Amino acid sequence: MNSALSTTPLIGRTQIRSRIRVLARKIEAHYGDDDFLVIGLMNGAFIFLADLTRAFSRSVDIAFLKASSYGKSSRSSGKVLLEGLEKIEIHGRRILLIDDILDTGKTLTHVTEALEKAGATEVTSCVLLDKPERHQVPYSAKFVGFVIEDLFVVGYGLDFAEKYRNLADIWVIKELA
Ligand code: IMP
Ligand code: MG
Repeated sequence: MNSALSTTPLIGRTQIRSRIRVLARKIEAHYGDDDFLVIGLMNGAFIFLADLTRAFSRSVDIAFLKASSYGKSSRSSGKVLLEGLEKIEIHGRRILLIDDILDTGKTLTHVTEALEKAGATEVTSCVLLDKPERHQVPYSAKFVGFVIEDLFVVGYGLDFAEKYRNLADIWVIKELA
């Protein structure tokens, strides 16, 4: 595949697909007949959101926000820049916030606070991956695809310097250049 990547995927596409089916059923059970708005965090959540929402057996509204950390580091700097909030009707809505990975927890904490401030009645999050060893703030996602060790992973939406997002499986980066 690429010399910078692990020789085999950490999590393969088949495993992702079956986990998503389980998550979709759990999420549907959480909302029952209530409406909810799915908000994906760009760019990392785009593939996960597309597959997860297509596993729902009902129609949902979908919107995106762009969350980025200031600075060029591959890891979160902790200061989150949020774009696009003014374009979405948040007030009075139950929100399902989708992200690729929960790392320090700073992104989801910041976005949750912003959505609550904008009048959301409930903000629930769903992440594909969670790295508990890396948490720096007390945040937990209600729905988690896979718990992983402290490894830097790419593929299935996740990038390293904007590369590898399109890979269908999740790989570990061996060399962080
Ligand atoms: P947090 O604010 O530290 O939780 O950062 C979450 C963001 O950091 C994610 O949305 C990713 O963009 C990035 N990130 C953290 N760990 C990884 C990883 O292993 N691979 C790719 N991106 C990661
Ligand atoms: Mg990201």
